[in-house]
Amino acid sequence: MDNILVVDDERNIRTLVSRVLSQDPIEVHGAGTGKDGLQMADEVDPDVVLLDLRLPDMDGMDVLRTLKSRYPHVAVIIITGYGQIQSAVEAMKSGAADYLEKPFEHLEKLKLAVTRALEEVRAKREVRRLHGLQEKQYRVDQLIGDSDSTRGLRELIGKLARSEAQTILVHGESGTGKELVACGLHYESARRDFPFMEVNCAAITETLFESELFGHEKGAFTDAKSAKKGLMELADRGTLLLDEVSEMSLNMQAKFLRCLQERVVRRVGGTRDIRVDVRIVAATNRPLETRVKEGQFREDLFYRLNVIPIHIPPLRERRDDIMPLARHFLREAALRSHKAIQGFTPEAERLMLTYAWPGNVRELRNLIERLVILGTSEHIEPAHLPVQFTGQQDVVPQRESSSSQEFRTLAEVERAYINQVMQRVEANKSKAAKILGISRQTLRKKLTEE
Ligand SMILES: Nc1ncnc2c1ncn2[C@@H]1O[C@H](COP(=O)(O)OP(=O)(O)OP(=O)(O)O)[C@@H](O)[C@H]1O
Ligand SMILES: [Mg+2]
Repeated sequence: MDNILVVDDERNIRTLVSRVLSQDPIEVHGAGTGKDGLQMADEVDPDVVLLDLRLPDMDGMDVLRTLKSRYPHVAVIIITGYGQIQSAVEAMKSGAADYLEKPFEHLEKLKLAVTRALEEVRAKREVRRLHGLQEKQYRVDQLIGDSDSTRGLRELIGKLARSEAQTILVHGESGTGKELVACGLHYESARRDFPFMEVNCAAITETLFESELFGHEKGAFTDAKSAKKGLMELADRGTLLLDEVSEMSLNMQAKFLRCLQERVVRRVGGTRDIRVDVRIVAATNRPLETRVKEGQFREDLFYRLNVIPIHIPPLRERRDDIMPLARHFLREAALRSHKAIQGFTPEAERLMLTYAWPGNVRELRNLIERLVILGTSEHIEPAHLPVQFTGQQDVVPQRESSSSQEFRTLAEVERAYINQVMQRVEANKSKAAKILGISRQTLRKKLTEE
């Protein structure tokens, strides 16, 4: 339903507008002062505002400017008194959509102006939606990588997106692309025309979280001056990304479990259940199994969420992705900063391929962006890379870990060590061979090995 707000100190004007428009599926709200009008606009988020320029407490032009700055998409129709055409012209210059002269002799005129404004607002909204869509779809194609696992991931996203799957759990270390995957799951699905919302479970307090997720009724708590829809309602027929789901409090987990099981929400302070159709994509970088064992995560919720798990491996386990990603980020960054950086020297490439990338794709992206901003030469060389690529990096991670993924293979360590030595001797192969205790021939062979 469309929302209209009438800001005019004359009560009969407000009732008149209400009456004229009441046959249509339009909700009309009224305010008698500028201050009330602005507050009301915050509450009802109107599509069209009918605004009298002469208000008891404020200059109508100020109200107009405030409205347009807070809600650039709202259409404001100015109501002027007889002989105030000049100020109406001023208002149009400040962004008003149209004006009407009082008294309203032709009610049809009023109706026409409102209908026209509404149509325009709807059209603009549609353009924004399509525009946003293109941007996002573009982002999905951006799941770059040639490794088998990334190829498989792209395929899986496509399949799952089009499926009926209601709940998907994405697991992967920080910076592996969980958000990108969630985005893909939404924008490749039939849900794409409906909202994609996200909430970070770690960044929000428990009390706030409940009303954020489920909404609240007016007066549910001191600050609840008006009713508000929660993310579950807002994302109806779309997708909700629950980021860092492992950090949800046990209390919230219980409430969320019910919502998942029954697919209904109840606003804070509310009494009725509201049915919602939302695909939940939960993301976590801590294995939920561990959280369950620690007693920090409900087992029943875990099983509910884990129906379709997607695991994104860390970058060091899909090294075929490193250079395609690096080249992609380089191209993007070079374009943005108008620099003619062509690529990487073979030695730089080798170092990047052997590096452990603890921050995964995000680290790679940030590094490349930094290199491009600082870079002056045509190619990125080993000397440009941070010290941990070449320096006294420990070949065995410091952290105690039972997982074999934390360790590097002998070949990787050897390669990294050779690179390190080559760095030190400024690529003098005779010196390097001597230090390494191998022949120059062997060294040359090892350097060309992939
Ligand atoms: N395969 C990929 N192709 C292109 N860009 C990627 C890819 N994977 C990740 N990125 C980019 O890397 C950055 C980090 O990805 P994202 O934010 O999705 O990670 P995340 O797993 O959600 O991390 P965190 O757990 O820290 O929230 C983003 O800029 C994202 O666009
Ligand atoms: Mg994320």
